[in-house]
Amino acid sequence: MLSLSSVHAYYGDSHILHDVSLELARGEVVCLLGRNGAGKTTTALAIMGYLAPRPGSIRFEGRDIGGWAPHRVSRAGIGFVPQERGVFPSLTVRENLTVAARAGDTGRWTLGAVYELFPRLREREGNLGFQLSGGEQQMLSIARALMLNPRLLLLDEPSEGLAPMIVREIMDVLRTLKAEGLAVLLIEQNLRAALDLGDRHYVLSKGAVCFTGTSADLEGNEQVLRDYLSV
Ligand SMILES: Nc1ncnc2c1ncn2[C@@H]1O[C@H](COP(=O)(O)OP(=O)(O)OP(=O)(O)O)[C@@H](O)[C@H]1O
Ligand SMILES: [Mg+2]
Repeated sequence: MLSLSSVHAYYGDSHILHDVSLELARGEVVCLLGRNGAGKTTTALAIMGYLAPRPGSIRFEGRDIGGWAPHRVSRAGIGFVPQERGVFPSLTVRENLTVAARAGDTGRWTLGAVYELFPRLREREGNLGFQLSGGEQQMLSIARALMLNPRLLLLDEPSEGLAPMIVREIMDVLRTLKAEGLAVLLIEQNLRAALDLGDRHYVLSKGAVCFTGTSADLEGNEQVLRDYLSV
């Protein structure tokens, strides 16, 4: 469904991603792991069209999306939950959600459906973005991505900075989405969450893939856990 092949990426002259290849099949949950600065967000930005691969190819459902504008990538079916969450601070919860929806979209995710998934958002529907807690902002960011009815959801460290109880709540939601067959590319530093949810994992170090395998492979690989994930 998603396929990165030998992707390189730069910020100006800084060469950040080196020959990154990654595959994600329909219905799969794939995790992208690695320490701070490993290149996880840069990979997400390349997929979403904020950075062009140079060189390298990024294919989604058979189309070469490398270099497409971000709005075109999201319309093609990739929902993005950015690391900084991107909630509009001066819009209400409801407005944050409806502004993302496409007119005439009759897909699975409507306002009512995302409120069912996140009852807390319904309670806060009239609150402004800046009045939400970190956990509520993360829920809103996920809900907003769903409003575009994506076939692949790309989340950049959704558990970052959140209390364990909220992390569990968010991971439960991702489990529900997985059970419905939604494909997920999950960037995480919370290894436990990644091992629980992920079918397969890629570990990045210095902008290059240094490990790929299943949860069992990763759990059994002490060297990778120690050297690249500081476990
Ligand atoms: N806008 C930028 N300009 C120049 N260098 C950048 C820029 N953004 C990130 N970098 C550098 O690119 C490298 C990879 O950063 P990236 O944000 O992809 O890491 P990450 O794995 O997402 O880290 P974290 O877990 O802290 O979010 C780092 O060395 C970082 O300093
Ligand atoms: Mg990051």
